[in-house]
Amino acid sequence: NAAINIGLCGFGTVGQGVWKHLKRDRAELAARLGVPLRIAAISVRDPQRPRAIKLPAKLLRADPLEVATDPAIPIVCELMGGTALARRVTLAALKAGKIVVSANKALICEHGAEIFATARKHGGHFFFEASVAGGVPIIKALREGLIANRFPQIYGILNGTCNYILTQMEERDAPYAEILAEAKALGYAEADEALDVQGWDAAHKAAVLAWLAHGLWVPPSRMIVEGIERVTPADFKNAAQLGYSIKLLAIITRDFSTEELSVKVHPALLPDSDVIASVNGVYNAISVTGDIVGTTLYIGKGAGQDATASAVISDIADAAALLRSGRCARLPSELAPLPSAAAAPS
Ligand code: NAP
Ligand code: HSE
Repeated sequence: NAAINIGLCGFGTVGQGVWKHLKRDRAELAARLGVPLRIAAISVRDPQRPRAIKLPAKLLRADPLEVATDPAIPIVCELMGGTALARRVTLAALKAGKIVVSANKALICEHGAEIFATARKHGGHFFFEASVAGGVPIIKALREGLIANRFPQIYGILNGTCNYILTQMEERDAPYAEILAEAKALGYAEADEALDVQGWDAAHKAAVLAWLAHGLWVPPSRMIVEGIERVTPADFKNAAQLGYSIKLLAIITRDFSTEELSVKVHPALLPDSDVIASVNGVYNAISVTGDIVGTTLYIGKGAGQDATASAVISDIADAAALLRSGRCARLPSELAPLPSAAAAPS
């Protein structure tokens, strides 16, 4: 079989992880998928900059749109971050009928409706497993495994950087700025770390989960969003004395009698008896309650190079399977429409 070409737009923390693991697992993945995968082009902001991973010069491009519209590349991975250029790249690839794999929750939160409409119109596809909870396959759980359910409540830890900072603040007496610098050095934080610590990144992810679960886009401006900047070491001591942990939680609740949907992100006291209270470090945890299945729980690394690459490669594998067989899992837009409902914070 001829290899399927993949284009990487972005070669930072996530892009390098995808490169590393696709190379390592090349033969095994090819055997599983029945077709080899090949990275055919990589775009970066500055192709001249020396990089820890030496790349063949012929792979490198300065313009991500060149990768997105290259007719020889059917799978385009948008791993740059930001929203303006990422939107242009994503729409250009979808308009060309390509499959786009994205880790970009800010993009999906802001432009998801346009992206999925464009994909439908032009026969493209958009996969986004890495956009929420890093290596935890929560997107596949919601869109596939739990598809028969309605979801009165989804809550949990959706930001690895904040959970790392809160855990370190609880365990050792180090300054907040020092711990945040560690999270950045470990590749957990966004390029603009304010998105993490002010709660916006978790809000973007909550918007993606709310859409998957309820078919409604809730912009962060209609959520209650508070980050971790005002949590102090004294708060942990007080909480521990009462048998609680402090976690930054995203909470999505739907009242099916009124159709009200509420999405919030804020630091919360969790009793030590709640499993999520003991989920520490970069780990994320999501409790999903379905009306048929009951409560299910998902825990794993929510950020970082390897965990995120694992999720991106799972989408690349789905994309390859789709190219070979024409089949893919269903998205909310293909379900029966929901009754009209106002999405408003409670
Ligand atoms: P990153 O380390 O900052 O890497 C960004 C890459 O995109 C770099 O290679 C950069 O080029 C390129 N790039 C950025 N702006 C560009 C522009 N204007 N034109 C051309 N290329 C540009 O970011 P990352 O941590 O890999 O994150 C990438 C995406 O994955 C983001 O959407 C992020 O939210 C998401 N994500 C990250 C993680 C994580 O743990 N890091 C987890 C899940 C999802 P240069 O190399 O030349 O600078
Ligand atoms: N900055 C994000 C986090 C990356 O810390 O969770 C994963 O989406």
